[in-house]
Amino acid sequence: MLMFYYQLIEFNQLTKRDRTMTGNNFPTQSLYTGVGIIDNQHQTFFAILHKIRKLSQENDCGSFGDILEELQLYSRFHFETEETIMETAGAENLQAHKMEHKKFIEKIEELVLQNILEDPCFPEELASFVEKWLVDHILNTDKLDLADISAE
Ligand SMILES: [Fe+2]
Ligand SMILES: [Fe+2]
Repeated sequence: MLMFYYQLIEFNQLTKRDRTMTGNNFPTQSLYTGVGIIDNQHQTFFAILHKIRKLSQENDCGSFGDILEELQLYSRFHFETEETIMETAGAENLQAHKMEHKKFIEKIEELVLQNILEDPCFPEELASFVEKWLVDHILNTDKLDLADISAE
């Protein structure tokens, strides 16, 4: 748990600049779940995605490891928030939902490890994977599982 808070502090330092970002980063309006804190955090996810795409456009491999780490920290932070909200509300599908989060985290951890060992640079592939996972997960899992909570 202590490690998690340490990472959160680290995350806050990493994204201080980005948290001042305003506007809508969603590729489509249908991604709103109706739970404000979750929608705000999803917006930040898409802001990170924009940064990955920018790396790709600028061919900036020097920042690839940093963006992977930011993605890893933010994913943990967001999933913990979402799971706590679902747990508090007694949401039915919590275990299956947690499993989807776990698989995503494992994939990102695998990429972080690969980056440490081999120092590859694949921002375009990373952006495509993250965008596809996010849109699919928000539309087919978050929106359904948070529907009862947003209606309260
Ligand atoms: Fe989720
Ligand atoms: Fe989510």
